[in-house]
Amino acid sequence: MKRLDGKTALITGAGRGIGRAFAEAYAREGARVAIADIDGARARETASGIGAAAIAVEMDITRQESIDAGVAATVSALGGIDILVNNAAIFTAAPIVEITREDFARVFGINVAGTLFTLQAVARHMIATGRRGRIINMASQAGRRGEPLVAVYCASKAAVISLTQSAGLDLIRHGINVNAIAPGVVDGAHWDGVDAFFARYEGKAPGQKKREVGAAVPFGRMGTAEDLTGMAVFLASAEAEYIVAQTYNVDGGNWMS
Ligand SMILES: NC(=O)c1ccc[n+]([C@@H]2O[C@H](COP(=O)([O-])OP(=O)(O)OC[C@H]3O[C@@H](n4cnc5c(N)ncnc54)[C@H](O)[C@@H]3O)[C@@H](O)[C@H]2O)c1
Repeated sequence: MKRLDGKTALITGAGRGIGRAFAEAYAREGARVAIADIDGARARETASGIGAAAIAVEMDITRQESIDAGVAATVSALGGIDILVNNAAIFTAAPIVEITREDFARVFGINVAGTLFTLQAVARHMIATGRRGRIINMASQAGRRGEPLVAVYCASKAAVISLTQSAGLDLIRHGINVNAIAPGVVDGAHWDGVDAFFARYEGKAPGQKKREVGAAVPFGRMGTAEDLTGMAVFLASAEAEYIVAQTYNVDGGNWMS
């Protein structure tokens, strides 16, 4: 008996990185998974790598009609949604005096509004079908405290932690558990982009910021997407039924809270 046998999951931003690792882990644990991503080709490639347990869903979490269509397509293909992982997000960095309204709206449109309205659409489905579902939001250590060049992304992830608390307290009366994971620094395409921002604003050589943050992690290195899968499976499993509205740090010891 696997831990997610018979369950279905929708994971946003699962075309690559952490979301893809979660989808692979869920499939290994017996779940069928919808790989949702704004990049349809990436979603299809990931789904075909997983095989029969996965479907690809092209979905842009900034557009309500795309969220609704993605949820409907998943329900139709998999028979319902037991687990949502709100994983899609983008990163940005700039000194306070250079932040633009456009960048703020773009980041909050995906990281905060996209997370909330995907959660809402799936929660409506879970309530209507009487599912005691699981919703896992991707926060970040960036949501635990500000950083000088990362005001907008940090604020967006603090909002995800707050939304997790409010939604968790609201939805538990329907038997839906909402929790979040706060990773530290996880190597991959996302951090290649972060590294490039710091190269620009702090005059660092490419790769230098990554080496610095990796060396500063108490565990001794940057994380990998696979380092997070244990928590993602646990929060989706029967063992986590009494856990409500929490955000768990999985960061090699970077942050205490
Ligand atoms: N990598 C890290 O160090 C780190 C640390 C803390 C938190 N996180 C969080 O973990 C999550 C996954 O991070 P990652 O490193 O795998 O990122 P990533 O950039 O590698 O993957 C994000 C995926 O989201 C998709 N996406 C972007 N906009 C979308 C939209 N509007 N609709 C649907 N899909 C969209 C992208 O196409 C991409 O496939 C994010 O929420 C991120 O903020 C990452």
